[in-house]
Amino acid sequence: MQLIDGKTVSQAVKERVRDEIAHDGLKIGLAVVIVGNDQASRVYVNNKKKACEFCGITSYEYALPEETTEEQLLELVDTLNNDGKVNGILVQLPLPEHINEKKIIEHISPMKDVDAFHAVNVGRIMIGDYAFLPCTPAGVMELIHSTGTEIAGKECVVIGRSNIVGKPMAMLLLHENGTVTVCHSRTKNLAEVCRRADILVSAVGRAGFVTADMVKEGAVVIDVGMNRNAEGKLCGDVDFDGVAPKCSFITPVPGGVGPMTIAMLMENTLRAKKLQS
Ligand code: GUN
Repeated sequence: MQLIDGKTVSQAVKERVRDEIAHDGLKIGLAVVIVGNDQASRVYVNNKKKACEFCGITSYEYALPEETTEEQLLELVDTLNNDGKVNGILVQLPLPEHINEKKIIEHISPMKDVDAFHAVNVGRIMIGDYAFLPCTPAGVMELIHSTGTEIAGKECVVIGRSNIVGKPMAMLLLHENGTVTVCHSRTKNLAEVCRRADILVSAVGRAGFVTADMVKEGAVVIDVGMNRNAEGKLCGDVDFDGVAPKCSFITPVPGGVGPMTIAMLMENTLRAKKLQS
């Protein structure tokens, strides 16, 4: 069993982005909008700012109070859509209850939508003609590639069907000619389906969900989960100690998929700049 080191792979992606920006003398701006006081969001946003600094991207933070209205947020997005210094716009989710997330996302210019959450970008991913990939699935692809595993013809099983991870993840694996199955809460014989997987990606959000009996000997296992266990410790969906001995490669949590998401955001911001030039 080999551990896939997300820190090393993400560092390489960030260095690639940094070197290209420096080499081409690019001036790039990323607007990061956060509304309210969600603690996890605050940590994510700070990490995104740090990564920008590393890569030579200017970050513009807009930290708005919880009581910000939908109208005010739409106006800010308008302003950022029209600001030439801003190449990428990221509105950190979740937004407060009184704001319609979908409405805000659809208001972001698709050319600046570095999360690839806008329907136009989601549609482009579906047809395989895309500029941006959603950061987490794109990060998972980088991790799989880093193992040297060929995806074409392999049985790939994705657990979870969210718009942010599961669905685009399935598309990316399909674009690389994997044979893809998407499992979810209504899937029958889940363990049996998962046991078919040469490449198993879990994005469920439940600690200890993927157990050793669900994993084929020699599988590549990617854990997208970010959960707290009973002791409050950060852990993924996979029962790591039980599953790891069966895998050819496995990602740890933390230090697997997590660091990749931000690295891919940096790459998307560079792509946005090029798209707009
Ligand atoms: N909240 C949790 N993950 C993400 C993400 O990738 N993008 C945004 N905008 N919000 C998030």
